[in-house]
Amino acid sequence: MKKIAVLTSGGDSQGMNTAVRAVAKAAISKGIEVYGIKRGYKGMLEDQIFHMSSLDVSGIADQGGTILLSARLPEFKNPEIRAKAAENLKKRGIEGLVVIGGDGSFHGAHHLYEEHGIKTIGIPGTIDNDIAGTDYTIGYDTALNIILDAISKLKDTAISHERTYLVEVMGRNCGDLALYSAIAGGASGVMIPEIKSSIEDIAEVIKKRRSQGKLYDIIVVAEGAGNVLEIEKELSKKVDTSIRVTILGHTQRGGSPTASDRILATKLGIKAVELLIEGKAGLMVGMQSGKVTTHTLSYAWENYNKTSEEDYKIANMLSL
Ligand code: ADP
Ligand code: F6P
Ligand code: MG
Repeated sequence: MKKIAVLTSGGDSQGMNTAVRAVAKAAISKGIEVYGIKRGYKGMLEDQIFHMSSLDVSGIADQGGTILLSARLPEFKNPEIRAKAAENLKKRGIEGLVVIGGDGSFHGAHHLYEEHGIKTIGIPGTIDNDIAGTDYTIGYDTALNIILDAISKLKDTAISHERTYLVEVMGRNCGDLALYSAIAGGASGVMIPEIKSSIEDIAEVIKKRRSQGKLYDIIVVAEGAGNVLEIEKELSKKVDTSIRVTILGHTQRGGSPTASDRILATKLGIKAVELLIEGKAGLMVGMQSGKVTTHTLSYAWENYNKTSEEDYKIANMLSL
């Protein structure tokens, strides 16, 4: 393995830069040339590929976003488009590719290996935490802490006005950000896409809390659990409290990565390069029970089923 490339793809996440840095430094230290691909698979197709030095990745471990930029290219599902993109690596003699992204990006990496023999390794970078084969994805911890900070601030104003706050957090298919921010943030309720919760039940919790003299309620709603404005409308028919909706949106994807995300990104970045040096490919790296592990790329989406019903029950038990 003489030349490898690295790209970031899909929704960005805090710690992607830390992972890019680790990949580049681990490779350069072993005498491997590193190429950066701008804008994910879009840049691969459009030949936006540049030679990277260690200067390019200097001082980025603590920076949010991604210096390589990210993009979505739905056309990458088309094998002809993938063939054109793969050609841009082959003509430079680039044999290995590290893809930092979510399950969609891993699908692309899987096809590039199967169809064109590009030695791909996936690093899970997404705030969603929706990938099997790793306990946590890079960016998840930072996003979770951003939500906790917001919940804490909202609690102050909720108490002053004796209000109910519905806080919408990211997660179209995965409720982890909502569930664990609800538990850690002391929320009065949580709605996630994986488990159906009734607005009636949430209304009952609010009424009970108020009868106990509690002055506020924070309900965390994952974006995939339903339209938060519709939920507000329904809930307002059932309770007398004043309700406000806060959508945290893309604030959850910015800012400097936490120590935990930086360490995770660094360990996984180094492992990705080690695997390429060993001639391995078509794999993803993850951290499970404190150990760096590897699985096939398809393991990431074929085995995804992490929702803990037990933790959902804990969140609801704590709401009273
Ligand atoms: P994430 O990687 O965070 O899940 P997306 O689902 O948006 O984000 O996927 C990122 C990119 O990966 C897509 O824009 C597309 O270029 C590529 N991709 C997604 N799904 C596939 C697929 N089934 N086959 C090939 N490429 C895919
Ligand atoms: O996959 C990461 C994510 O932030 C999801 O949580 C969210 O549903 C989606 O991306 C938002 O995508 P966009 O940045 O295109 O609005
Ligand atoms: Mg995804």
